[in-house]
Amino acid sequence: MPPVVLADSFAESKRLLKSENHQPVSIADQYRAIGQRLGLDFSPTIRLFDLLPIFLHGSRHAEVRRIMAARLANARVRQEQAAQRLIEQLPTLLAPGTTLDLVGSFVTPLWAALASADNTKLEIEPGLAADIIALLDSKSRLRDRMATNEKIRRFIALDPANADERLISLGLSVLGTLPLAGSITLSLHSLFSANLGKPLSSLNYPKRFPVSAIPVTDRVAVGHCPHAGSAAGEITRCVLHSGKYSTEENDELLYGVGEHACLGRSIANAVWSMITSALSTAGSTILSSQLALEYPAPQTDEDLLNMPLGFINVRALKVEIGA
Ligand code: HEM
Repeated sequence: MPPVVLADSFAESKRLLKSENHQPVSIADQYRAIGQRLGLDFSPTIRLFDLLPIFLHGSRHAEVRRIMAARLANARVRQEQAAQRLIEQLPTLLAPGTTLDLVGSFVTPLWAALASADNTKLEIEPGLAADIIALLDSKSRLRDRMATNEKIRRFIALDPANADERLISLGLSVLGTLPLAGSITLSLHSLFSANLGKPLSSLNYPKRFPVSAIPVTDRVAVGHCPHAGSAAGEITRCVLHSGKYSTEENDELLYGVGEHACLGRSIANAVWSMITSALSTAGSTILSSQLALEYPAPQTDEDLLNMPLGFINVRALKVEIGA
């Protein structure tokens, strides 16, 4: 791996994200390099990552981004209605005397409702989006990567004539699931743990997610190919969300800026505002809030540099509810 340096100031991160001279790191190229080195066929994985805008640049990026933006715009009203139906039940779910995992009982069904309202009628094997996210995890075992590669191969083989279109929908699901589920869960945990025992109806709810599941994103200077093996270019890890930033700075970089700014920000903001409205009508209090993560949340600059996955992957949020 080439060296990674941290751009840990708001101004520097923002400058790099807006700079035409810096591009995302290509995950498809990483898999090309691994495949070549080990003599393995990662072509299904490469085809998928070559369609994820977050890792692309230039005209290819613009083309895929346009298609995804049109799909999201098309689904917007249905997604908002589906989210509203589910979020309305939140105050009932938080009944005094219960203990529940909010990821399993609220956040995961919420994402499923958003995904099915997208209406592309895409059959995605359960767990495939999570397996694809694990392909980005530097600690994933080769055997697991190969198994996911085969799942993507089967996904393509189901309808080869429309493979790219279907891979784009799969990619949209991958890019939406973890950031949204993670940011909702982390934000609820941060709010609850700062306000234990206080009526949910009395809290001061922030307008934007107070914690992000994407605290960093990587960029490399144009002209450098960080995974070709030779002349390795330095990767700059831009900090998007940090305790060192002001609320306004965190809000500004929550969804990124520049060419790659998040396409899901409008639905994500709408979902957060529906959740906070629902919570402010809940008659209960949170007595305890326990978060379980795939990896510990990064606290220091060193943690941010060593994150094996650019996302914070949540497993559970166990809450105990009181009157
Ligand atoms: C709170 C939830 C979310 C957060 C914090 C978030 C954050 C981000 C960030 C920071 C980026 C830019 C990364 C970079 O510059 O390297 C991004 C890109 C993207 N996001 Fe989100 N996101 C969220 C929800 C969603 C949802 C729900 C969807 C889709 C349904 C989505 C779709 C995308 C797409 C397609 C891109 C790539 C845009 C491009 O590269 O042109 N996001 N997101």
